[in-house]
Order: sequence, then structure tokens, then C-alpha cells
Amino acid sequence: MTQKLRAGIVGGTGMVGQRFIALLENHPWFQVTAIAASANSAGKTYEESVKGRWKLSTPMPDNVKNIPVQDASHVEEVASGVDLIFCAVDMKKNEIQALEEAYAKAGVPVISNNSAHRWTPDVPMVVPEINPEHLEVIAAQRKRLGTETGFIAVKPNCSIQSYVPMLTALRGFQPTQVVASTYQAISGAGKTFTDWPDMLDNVIPYIGGEEEKSEQEPLRIWGTVEDGAIVKASGPQITTQCIRVPVTDGHLATVFVSFENKPSKEEILESWKNYKGRPQELELPSAPKQFITYFEEDNRPQTNLDRDLENGMGISAGRLREDSLYDFKFVGLSHNTLRGAAGGAVLIAELLKAKGYITAR
Ligand SMILES: NC(=O)c1ccc[n+]([C@@H]2O[C@H](COP(=O)([O-])OP(=O)(O)OC[C@H]3O[C@@H](n4cnc5c(N)ncnc54)[C@H](OP(=O)(O)O)[C@@H]3O)[C@@H](O)[C@H]2O)c1
Repeated sequence: MTQKLRAGIVGGTGMVGQRFIALLENHPWFQVTAIAASANSAGKTYEESVKGRWKLSTPMPDNVKNIPVQDASHVEEVASGVDLIFCAVDMKKNEIQALEEAYAKAGVPVISNNSAHRWTPDVPMVVPEINPEHLEVIAAQRKRLGTETGFIAVKPNCSIQSYVPMLTALRGFQPTQVVASTYQAISGAGKTFTDWPDMLDNVIPYIGGEEEKSEQEPLRIWGTVEDGAIVKASGPQITTQCIRVPVTDGHLATVFVSFENKPSKEEILESWKNYKGRPQELELPSAPKQFITYFEEDNRPQTNLDRDLENGMGISAGRLREDSLYDFKFVGLSHNTLRGAAGGAVLIAELLKAKGYITAR
């Protein structure tokens, strides 16, 4: 068997970091060899540093318990033991930008869960099934950073996975206007019901910064690569409302959409069923076999029943019907901490490895 690539998790003690640790436990290509966090955690074993704050329902993997947590600011030291890093830190935006660039300049591929670099022109923001061609900007980024091996690639916000895949499959019919409301799980705020009892029996009609991300990020995903930078698409117009609801995991979206060339319901269903991306063609380890699954039942998809579809990497759709104001309306669902966070980032890393952007250093 070929040697696995050595993965570091920067922010490995946090909630998203823990998801990375769990997802990589038996990964065929990547093995966690380094974990870094703040100076408060550095010097302890991983098990000691997350004592009392392991948030997953599955137990901590044995293979990481004795890994000594490093100080993430000691970039050269962490970089020397890894072939790539996954980054999920809670710091100020400019600090995250500087930290991720420091790792990239040290020659390390950085796959980031953070939003800090989502609008840096030469940083690809990727959903592997949708815009794998954006990886082309990495060449320009490497030139800017002065490195032949390092770079930063990011995943988009967790909310957009619940509706952008379905809209992407329909781009040929030219969507013109989209209204999307998202019903978002508390894990998207890094919380459980124990940490956030106010969310029991409650709905909060505000998630800071989320509507702007949900309206703008799809346009960057649908953008084009021009002169070593991503230029965002000019449409469709998207307006959103993002609401926090009392569920643990899973973001559900209700969507209204109008088209330049209105398709039939059958054409939409056919487009969703047949939509395949590079991860499916390359049979990447974390890729869902079927990217978009349509449920015929009127009461599906349901957050609790359907969020784990295809190990939390599949996208569910349902309730497609004509609308009286817009052309069509439908419901979408995705797992926010798997497809929308750590799982989406691992899938990006798999695509990058398959395309030769990540190799043993
Ligand atoms: N939770 C989600 O579902 C979700 C979804 C999408 C995006 N995100 C984003 O992902 C990032 C991490 O979120 P989270 O929920 O995992 O946060 P979290 O549970 O608070 O974990 C934060 C991590 O950052 C580390 N950290 C904090 N300050 C640091 C510093 N100065 N230097 C190095 N490491 C430092 C922490 O280390 P210590 O343990 O040592 O303090 C910990 O490992 C955030 O940017 C968040 O916005 C989260």
C-alpha cells in the first residue's frame, strides 16, 4: 500500500477540528500526524487538551489521543511534520489570513474551513462537484506567495450547500431570480443544546453575516477564472433569510426560482438526477455516489431523517412544484458539519490530491 499523506489539523481541538479528526480516522489517503491549536492547548496531549470538550457523539479515535498539541503560531515546526493542513481556527479575520498564508508560504497546502480567504481573488473557493476548474488559480497564488508547493483553498459557507447544487444543475435554463430561506442547525454556531439551552423550543431569526454570505458566495462559486483570479458571476439575483432552528445538525432551505428559459418539472428532475461532478467521475473516497437525491414523498427531506444521506455528503431535494409568483419552488437539505464543513474540506483535499496539487513533501 502506498504511504498515506501526513495531515495536520490546525484548530484541531475545536468543534470543526474534532470533525476532521473523526473523518480522517480511517481515511485511505490521509493520516493525522500533527494537531495544532492556541498556546493554551500546546504542550498537552490531544486527549488532555480536549478533556471535557469532546463534542462528537462518536468516541475520540485512539490514534490521535497521544499526539502532542503544537502551538499553531510555530509554523515551521508544524509544517515540518505534514504534507497538508486542514485549518479551522476561531481567530480574527486578519490573523487567520496571516496564519494561513504563513503555512502556504512554508510550502504547505492549506485546506481551510475558515471564511477569511473566501474573497481573496487567487484563492479557490470550491464545491468539488460544482467548480473544480477554479483550482487553476492556484498557479497564480503560488507565484504571489513565492512557493512551489504551498497554497490555500477554501470551502464556502455551510448554508449554500442546501440550494446551490440544485440551482447549479439548472444553470442551462438560466435562473434569473432566487429567493432562499435557510433553517440552520445549532452546530453551525459550534453549539450543542447543552451549551445553548435557549435554543430549546425556540427559533432565532438572525445569524450574523449569514445572509450576505448566502447571497454572494454562490456567485463566486459560479464565477470564471480570468488572469489568475476568480471573477464572480453577475447573476442570478439571490435574496435570502437565514434562521436558526432547534436542530442539532442539518441546514434545510426553501427555495423559489425563476428562469430565463423555464424548464418543465420533468426536465428539472432529470437534471438533478443526472448531475455528476469530478468527485463522482474520479470516485474520490468521500464523494457521494449520487450528488443530488430527490424525494418524492411530500414530507421529505426531513432534517433528522435525511441529513446523513451518503455519510452526510449527499444533497437532498424535495417538494418541487410550480409557484404562482416564481416559476418553481423546492426544498433542499445538507449536513452542515459534514458536507458543509469538515467533509466538504476533506473532499476538496481528495480532489487536490487526485489532480496532483498535494503530494508527499
Ligand atoms: N462550527 C461549525 O459548524 C462551523 C461551520 C463553518 C465554519 N466554522 C468556522 O470554523 C472555525 C472553527 O470553528 P469551531 O466551531 O470549530 O470553533 P471552536 O470550537 O471555538 O474551536 C476553535 C479552534 O481555534 C483554536 N484557536 C483559537 N484561538 C487560537 C489562536 N490564537 N491560535 C491558534 N489556534 C487558536 C482553538 O484552540 P484552543 O482549543 O487551544 O483554544 C480551537 O482549536 C471558525 O472560523 C468558524 O467560524 C464553523
